Amino acid sequence: MKKNWLKNGKSILYRHDTESLAVIIKISREEQLNALNKEVILSLSEVLTNIEDDKKIRSVIITGEGSKAFIAGADIKEFQNFKEKEATDLSRSGKNRLFNKISNFKKPVISAINGYALGGGLELALSSQIRLASTNAKMGLPECTLGIIPGYGGTQNLAKIIGTGRAMEMILTGKMISSEEAHRIGLVNYVVEPENLIDKCLGLAKSIKNTSPESLESAIKSINACFMNTGDNLETTEFGKLFETENFTEGVSAFLEKRRPNFNK
Ligand code: COA
Repeated sequence: MKKNWLKNGKSILYRHDTESLAVIIKISREEQLNALNKEVILSLSEVLTNIEDDKKIRSVIITGEGSKAFIAGADIKEFQNFKEKEATDLSRSGKNRLFNKISNFKKPVISAINGYALGGGLELALSSQIRLASTNAKMGLPECTLGIIPGYGGTQNLAKIIGTGRAMEMILTGKMISSEEAHRIGLVNYVVEPENLIDKCLGLAKSIKNTSPESLESAIKSINACFMNTGDNLETTEFGKLFETENFTEGVSAFLEKRRPNFNK
């Protein structure tokens, strides 16, 4: 393990930057492009719980290990044989443990998108309060190409951030967009060279350090109240139902077999 990094579970590294008072959390499952399996979700959630009330920490930066991926989605191999009940539980428990925790966190969470942010990976970034991307990042919600839909708040949060017109196109086509395009449509606040990404985030963390922590907690709560996710439960129910379809089996098999799915039977 690199110097100063602490480890939680198998794949979460974190360190405290004493100058900016930020905690940097790194998802470290590089060989699987940092895909979110159950273990990563639990370990990440645990670190967040442990720091939420720590007054020496004023913000959180989440990034992915390596230069290829932030997070390439929920772990498809883990849910490939799920049926409706398990899928509904996966969505509900992921939201309760992690995604809604990030949205409602008492301190700002900054996503440093350092490569692919797909599916659950982009949904994690969408739950954060602030998003930055490196020039090589690619973002998308490809779930409809797998025979499912985003199940970690993506249908709600993407529409909230970039508007329903653009969210519809991104979700219904499943296409990835570049970081420049993401910046143009307001999905990320800044695009920087990969080697400057964490420094840029730490710069924001230093500005955050000069604010009142109680004000930030109240501001996050109030801004979130302006856009309540009224479709959150509906998204979970629809997500679960799709796991009973033949096209889900086809979509996931195609991904695992590294081929294009055939949904037109
Ligand atoms: N879940 C599980 N494993 C994943 C994954 C995911 N979401 N994303 C990538 N991986 C794994 C691949 O299966 C592969 O594992 P293997 O070496 O055991 O075969 C490894 O990570 C490397 O990925 P690979 O697809 O070979 O890299 P690539 O450079 O050809 O393609 C991506 C990169 C990101 C375009 C491609 O991995 C991809 O489309 N991933 C899935 C994205 C997705 O649909 N996410 C939403 C999930 S709900």
